[in-house]
Amino acid sequence: MAVEGNQTQVRPRSFVGTAPGKVILFGEHAVVYGQPAIAVPVTDVQARATVTPLTGTDGIWLLAADLPGFTDDSMGRRYRLDDAESDDPLRVAVELALAAFGGDTVRWHGGTEPRLLITINSTIPIARGLGSGAAVATAVVRAIAGHLGQSPSPEEVSRLVYEVEKLHHGTPSGIDNTVVAYERPVYFVRGEGVTQLHAGSPFGLIIADTGKASSTRRVVGHVRSRWKADPDRHQWLFDQIGDVARQARTAIEEGDRHAIGRLMAQNHHLLVALGVSSPDLDTLVGVALEAGATGAKMSGAGWGGNIVALVEPRVTSDVADALSDAGATRIISTTVG
Ligand code: PMV
Repeated sequence: MAVEGNQTQVRPRSFVGTAPGKVILFGEHAVVYGQPAIAVPVTDVQARATVTPLTGTDGIWLLAADLPGFTDDSMGRRYRLDDAESDDPLRVAVELALAAFGGDTVRWHGGTEPRLLITINSTIPIARGLGSGAAVATAVVRAIAGHLGQSPSPEEVSRLVYEVEKLHHGTPSGIDNTVVAYERPVYFVRGEGVTQLHAGSPFGLIIADTGKASSTRRVVGHVRSRWKADPDRHQWLFDQIGDVARQARTAIEEGDRHAIGRLMAQNHHLLVALGVSSPDLDTLVGVALEAGATGAKMSGAGWGGNIVALVEPRVTSDVADALSDAGATRIISTTVG
């Protein structure tokens, strides 16, 4: 931003914000009930938002250019912010960012109202537990902040994106916006500060997609109604998952890959008992283990989406091939640490 006299003016320049995907390694669902969870960013997939000043057209326009699973139209969906529903997540992300970073008070290059095109691209599959919603919102918030000459901290970005996450999830724990905004492995407890996690030694992951979309809001709602119907059993399951996540933190910090793998298996069984896995997820977990993975579990809300497997380099391609043969629609291979 340039300052002219007493007035701050937005420079007419484009700005790009990006954000990675994420995968939850331990603690999904139980994290909503106060237990710890561990998640890592997945930089192999990314969301990207580009803010471009417009001349001659009023208002803010959104172009969802390339969101996998969001639109079949390669030309994308282009709409005016004011015409979107008031709870449209992209609209809310833009409005929150403009309010947080001074968009209401600056003098825009075209006058008093912003004239912007915000183009969104993402390689993160939607509704597969890879943090697409949080990543798109993070990219939008960063692009608008950058356009307004601000560089917000991860904490600030995470706080804004949490508000958008509420539209996707209903009662989000906050783990998605946290890991995506910090872009670091995190040990997360709802309502507490973020602990960044340092892996004692790097480890490889394979993320394999069942090809089935799943609504986090629906699965989280299902768990909530089961918990209300049988609080003792569910509290016990949440406590067990929390114990696994606490042990996993130590195993990751110590670089004990066998312990990490064993704990992933335990976590998967507890999620099966919670009723959030599916035959497809169970099949891919079994296939990964049979092909030599050190550990495997479903990841995210469940009933679809992805599994995550811990792999040593010598078995990575065997596990990836076996998962493809078993019907996984997409394989991502990544390293933590
Ligand atoms: O959005 P997903 O599929 O990664 O699920 C989020 C993880 C949950 O624990 C199920 C919900 C939450 O808000 O933490």
